[in-house]
Amino acid sequence: MKKILCIFGTRPEAIKMVPVIKQLKSEKEKFEVKVCVTAQHRNLLDEVLDIFQVTPDYDLNIMTENQSLFQITTSVLKHLEPILKKEKPDMVLVHGDTTTTFAAALASYYLKIPVGHVEAGLRSYDKFNPYPEEINRRLTDAISDIYFCPTLTAKKAILKENINPKNIFITGNTVIDALYMILKKKHKFQNPILRKLFYSHLPSPISHLILVTAHRRENFGKPIENICNAIKKISREFPDCKIVYPVHPNPNVKIPVHKILGKLKNVYLVPPLNYSDFANLIKISYLILTDSGGLQEEAPSLGKPVLVMRCVTERPEAVVSGTVKLVGTDEKIIFKEVKKLLTDKSEYNKIAKSTNPYGDGFAAIRTVDFIKYYFGLSDKRPGEFYVGTKKIQ
Ligand code: UD1
Ligand code: UDP
Repeated sequence: MKKILCIFGTRPEAIKMVPVIKQLKSEKEKFEVKVCVTAQHRNLLDEVLDIFQVTPDYDLNIMTENQSLFQITTSVLKHLEPILKKEKPDMVLVHGDTTTTFAAALASYYLKIPVGHVEAGLRSYDKFNPYPEEINRRLTDAISDIYFCPTLTAKKAILKENINPKNIFITGNTVIDALYMILKKKHKFQNPILRKLFYSHLPSPISHLILVTAHRRENFGKPIENICNAIKKISREFPDCKIVYPVHPNPNVKIPVHKILGKLKNVYLVPPLNYSDFANLIKISYLILTDSGGLQEEAPSLGKPVLVMRCVTERPEAVVSGTVKLVGTDEKIIFKEVKKLLTDKSEYNKIAKSTNPYGDGFAAIRTVDFIKYYFGLSDKRPGEFYVGTKKIQ
């Protein structure tokens, strides 16, 4: 019996860790599973815990309004020390690249507890893009003991860093597991604005639904204003489009977004949506405009084109396969690229393809199978996830 402590703190970590937690918990005779949330996010995190019915054993409740990176790192370290000392887990599992991820890995290292990194190996090789995630993930990988890479590209990045190949394993991305779990259920929109938009008779039909999200720290200030101005122009030039924008609660995002877009008739600014509403919104969208990491992985499985408002991405697979295009944060370029997809059907069809380089819905099973193998609870190294690529070991 091995004790695994899963530590996470934000919405995307929660969405992507839930499938692993559920899979670990299904193996009752092999694992004792504990869940600790830092609550770096509060309401965004709670929505995910609620919808997937996960109850944490520990809740550090660290979030403060407009928190700094210093505050997050120091609070996580301080609050985790007694928990790690009390629980003495055989392994801590962290996910991705948030400051919770890095600080939890660091705390575990200080106590010489093995760390498993889910979604290891993503790299943009630009330390300020995305900021601070690129450094968070590199530092987490430097500390980790086993690596669950979503793709072959991620595995190759870890191999370049001289990590023992024995401890690196390609699983696919667990976000696809979570997406399939949610989309399997019958759905009716819960958000009142979406209910009105989709279930009542509208004076003008929706010709195209555009889904927008933006929240990255490196886009605060001028870039977020440019993004909003581009959306304003799209809304005016294409009045039949409906633009739905769930706005991140960070004041650096919320204030400029409401100021620039608050009064436009066909722009629907809604609070962050629960994962069920959001996943179903992706499903009915025509295109997605975002700076999010997770959406670049989810949208391709539903065949939706994604225009990514960043200069670089650590998720090159969907760019290569053609469903994701990097457009940066220049107002004119964003407008031009959206216009192209709205007006040129052949251009749209070229990138709206249902190929998914990120997963097949079995990433959590592979992750847990590899943990069993690592601890000697099973003899055979399990099979890795590959998409149209050759095995490299
Ligand atoms: C964080 C992560 C980022 C991840 C993103 C996912 C860091 C430094 N950043 O960015 O990597 O991509 O989450 O969304 O780890 N807030 C609320 N309620 C919430 C959540 C946030 O009000 O439930 C507000 C608070 O004022 C908070 C602020 O947003 O201080 C910023 O939250 P923070 O976690 O620091 O940054 P994010 O931009 O959310
Ligand atoms: N998401 C959600 N509700 C929203 C916006 C996003 O459930 O209103 C989901 C989305 O499907 C994805 C994840 O949250 O799985 C992405 O989170 P976020 O954009 O906060 O972080 P990132 O992916 O950039 O790390």
